[in-house]
Amino acid sequence: MGHEPVRTQAGDAAAEERSRKIRERIRGAFDRGASDYDRFEGTTEFFAGLLDELISLGPSLAGRRVLDVGCGTGASLARLSQTVGENGLAVGIDVSLSMLRRATARLGAGTCVAQMDGCHFANGFRTSFDAVIYNAVLFLLPDAEASLAATRAVLRADGHVYLANLEGVFWDPDLAVPELLARRGLPAGRHALAPWPVVSAHLGKFFAPPAVRRLRVQLTPERFVAFYGQEPMSAGLLPTVPYPERRRVVEGLGEELAREGRCAEQVWVLACARAGQNGGGAATARRGEGG
Ligand SMILES: C[S@@+](CC[C@H](N)C(=O)[O-])C[C@H]1O[C@@H](n2cnc3c(N)ncnc32)[C@H](O)[C@@H]1O
Repeated sequence: MGHEPVRTQAGDAAAEERSRKIRERIRGAFDRGASDYDRFEGTTEFFAGLLDELISLGPSLAGRRVLDVGCGTGASLARLSQTVGENGLAVGIDVSLSMLRRATARLGAGTCVAQMDGCHFANGFRTSFDAVIYNAVLFLLPDAEASLAATRAVLRADGHVYLANLEGVFWDPDLAVPELLARRGLPAGRHALAPWPVVSAHLGKFFAPPAVRRLRVQLTPERFVAFYGQEPMSAGLLPTVPYPERRRVVEGLGEELAREGRCAEQVWVLACARAGQNGGGAATARRGEGG
């Protein structure tokens, strides 16, 4: 009885324009923040460690063909290249050229990386993959559903998707940092564009029920500032505040945590799902499953 939203050309164009603006804002922040990101990862191995937790949820990737969506400076891609070994293949895509340049520098010549939008990459490959990885990426994308549809289309029928989604950062168990900022009159953002309930609903359209693990990561005051002091990471907390000012707010919060002798806590959802019967089948068949 007409409960489905009516899609119009004007509506589609407006949605596309919204997605484009979000993507460009995020791309700009990662382009400018690439060296800080690399420095952070170099001293903490934060994202490489997250990847280890993530891939432990699914079958072994040794010898497999793996696509790393939002590969960034290559922290997870380097780990994946080692994991798949000589008989496998690890390919990375990212929207930020500055991040990709660092991935190439980290992994060396012959690295398979390309600049592509993480929401629309289904037609970018002439091969299919055994696994698609989103290590700290899907929650940043303006259209998680389109991205998961693209993933299903490039996956083999028995392939797996792995995703680590940041749900939020908490000042204490009952108070998320954006809420704390809003209470102080600061224009706080949503942190995750696509939180787990949204991702989970879309995942169910293309994949079998996932294995899910919630991971809580303690951030010492120093680690909190090192993470959220970066331009792209702070954008989700205070999207309308210009960058150097955002960093000062984060540093202030870090000092407060240190004075109180406390840590902040991030909540991540890690999930791994096998390709399901629904969706993407036609694209997969078109591409061929031969590997
Ligand atoms: C938090 S970093 C994670 C990087 C990497 N997975 C790692 O483990 O280090 C998020 C990455 O997603 C990328 N990204 C953000 N929006 C994107 C989009 N629309 N398409 C492709 N990549 C995107 C950013 O450029 C950045 O490199």
